[in-house]
Amino acid sequence: NKTGVIFDLDGVIVDTAKYHFLAWKHLADTLGFEFTEAHNELLKGVSRVRSLEILLDIGQISLSEARKQDILISKNEEYLSYITKMGADEILPGAENLLDTLDQLGIKYVLGSASKNASLILKQVGLFNRFTGIVDGNSVSKAKPDPEVFLIGAKLLQLAPKNCIVFEDAIAGVEAANKAHMISIGIGDKKTLHQADYNFNDLTEISTDFIKALMNHKKE
Ligand code: G6P
Ligand code: MG
Repeated sequence: NKTGVIFDLDGVIVDTAKYHFLAWKHLADTLGFEFTEAHNELLKGVSRVRSLEILLDIGQISLSEARKQDILISKNEEYLSYITKMGADEILPGAENLLDTLDQLGIKYVLGSASKNASLILKQVGLFNRFTGIVDGNSVSKAKPDPEVFLIGAKLLQLAPKNCIVFEDAIAGVEAANKAHMISIGIGDKKTLHQADYNFNDLTEISTDFIKALMNHKKE
């Protein structure tokens, strides 16, 4: 098959943004400033290190490198305490159905996530073994919107980038897919993700016919 799919994880297959929010908010509380859900939007698709920089900008706080490293470790420990409690009931609507459809059509799929916890999360929800490959925060040197994560994904799929379809919920992720010359599908708010080639509210809206049509229309 000449078409492959690359899935972002957080916000597409599972909703882990709420757990990142709890952990970042706890940190902001400790540092003495307010961190809102709107602030949390800015961290979607962004690497852990960059997330901390954005958060410290919001609080107008500057810290030593050593302190930042300590904070990143404790933030992740708290985040892990939430995700190690996750189960299959936290898979977002439509995700398993879409994987079934792709299996039926013989279309391979890999993960393309900024998270260093991606494999753990997929194992928690029981989807790890379904993916042909995993590209995550441990495999890349440049974070989204750099296309690196998706270009490595295309290699794992043994496909040219133009034959890859990317599902993304973050602006940085859609930008990365476009830079990689892949078909970008924005999942979430259409206004926010207007740079995507196609937009849907969630994965329940992706039909078999839509996937079949994409198999015949390559991005130039
Ligand atoms: C995903 C999320 C981001 C998160 C990043 C790193 O892209 O959307 O909000 O900051 O992964 O996650 P990690 O699990 O490595 O801290
Ligand atoms: Mg995401």
